[in-house]
Amino acid sequence: MTELAKQLGLEIPLFAFTRSKEVVLEVSRGGGMGVLGAIAHSPEQLDEDLAWIDARVDGKPYGVDTVMPNSYLGKGETVTKEMLQGMIPQQHRDFVDRILQEHGVPPLPEDYERHEDLLGWSVEKGIAHIEVALRYPIKLIANALGTPPPEAIDRAHAHGIKMAALCGKTKQALAHQAAGIDIIVAQGTEAGGHTGEIAGMVLCPEIVDAVGDTPVLMAGGIGGGRQLAAALALGAQGGWTGSVWLTTEENLAYQHAHVTELLLKAGSGDTVRSRCISGKPARQLRTKWTRLWDGEESPGTLPIPLQWMVQAEAVERIYHHDCNELMGTPAGQIVGMMNRVEPTAAVMQRFKDEYAAAVARL
Ligand SMILES: Cc1cc2nc3c(=O)[nH]c(=O)nc-3n(C[C@H](O)[C@H](O)[C@H](O)COP(=O)(O)O)c2cc1C
Repeated sequence: MTELAKQLGLEIPLFAFTRSKEVVLEVSRGGGMGVLGAIAHSPEQLDEDLAWIDARVDGKPYGVDTVMPNSYLGKGETVTKEMLQGMIPQQHRDFVDRILQEHGVPPLPEDYERHEDLLGWSVEKGIAHIEVALRYPIKLIANALGTPPPEAIDRAHAHGIKMAALCGKTKQALAHQAAGIDIIVAQGTEAGGHTGEIAGMVLCPEIVDAVGDTPVLMAGGIGGGRQLAAALALGAQGGWTGSVWLTTEENLAYQHAHVTELLLKAGSGDTVRSRCISGKPARQLRTKWTRLWDGEESPGTLPIPLQWMVQAEAVERIYHHDCNELMGTPAGQIVGMMNRVEPTAAVMQRFKDEYAAAVARL
C-alpha cells in the first residue's frame, strides 16, 4: 500500500475517473477512489449525483473532477455565449451541416430539449462545481487541461481536501507543483481523452524524479492489476484510470449501445489523437467523424470552447437519430483489452487479483 493510498483511506491505490455515479459508488465501495467527472453536469445535477453517492457509499472516499483549462477563448473576459457563437466561422458551420446532410441526419424534433452548448470548460463553471462538491465529504478534487486557479486550490485546501491535476509533460507537472497541487497525475499518450505525445513508461518516472516528495499517479493504459503494479514500479503512488470503466454494466446507461459495441470491438490500434472534440488533442476511437475533421476537406478545428459549440447540436442530432456511422467516444489504447461488459465490482476484483499476482511474480 502506498503512503498516499493510506492517507486517503484506500484499500487499493486505484483512482477511477467516470461520469457514472454508479461506477463511482462501486469503485469506492470496492476500496478504490471513484472520481465523478463533472464537466457535463450543471451544478444542480452535480448536487443530485453527489447526494446519491454520499447516501450509499458508507463513508468510503470519493472525489470530483473539473475541467478548468489554462487557456481558452474568453478566459478572464466577460463574454456571453452569443458572443462566442458569433466567433464561429461560417465555413465551419457549413462543414458540419454538409456532413449531416450527406449522412441523412434529420433535425431535432420541435419538442426536443437541447443540452447546454457550453460544456464546463471554464474557470467559472469549474468553481461552481467545486462550490457544490465542497458541501460533501469528498476526499479529492482533480482538474484537467491545466493548473487550476489559486481560488480553486485555496478553497479545496481550506476544507482539508487534496487537489490533483493532470499533465502530459514534466514542465506542466512542475507548474502544478509550484501552484500548490498535492497530487500530480502523469498522463501518457496512450490515455483516453485529452492527452499529450509522451509515452507513460517515459513520462511517469521522469515526473516522479522531477517533483520529489509530491505524490504522482500514473494515467494512461491502466486496465488491470498488471499495469497498476507497473505504475507503482515506476514510482507512482497509484494508478489513475478512465477508459476501463466505459464497458462496465453501470456505465452502459451513459452511452449509446452502438458506442459500447464499438468499444468492445476496437483494438489497441483503433484510436487516434484528434482535436475534433474540443480543439485540443484528445485520444478517441478512430471513426468517420474523426476522419472527416482530420481530412483534406476539413476547415481545421477551432479553439476551446468554439470547437465543441460548432458541433454540439450536430452531435445531439446524430445520437437522437441513431446515426451509428458518425458516433464515437474518447477512449485510450487499453480499449483493445476491453472485450466484454462486466460489473464494476468484477473489474475491481480483477485489479486486486492481478495486482497481487503481478507483485508476487516480481
Ligand atoms: C470518455 C472519457 C472522458 C474523459 N473526460 C475527462 C474529463 O472530463 N476530465 C478529466 O480530468 N479527464 C477526462 N478523461 C481522462 C481520464 O481522467 C483519464 O486521465 C484517462 O482516461 C486515463 O487513461 P486511460 O483512458 O488509458 O485509462 C476522460 C477519459 C475518457 C476515456
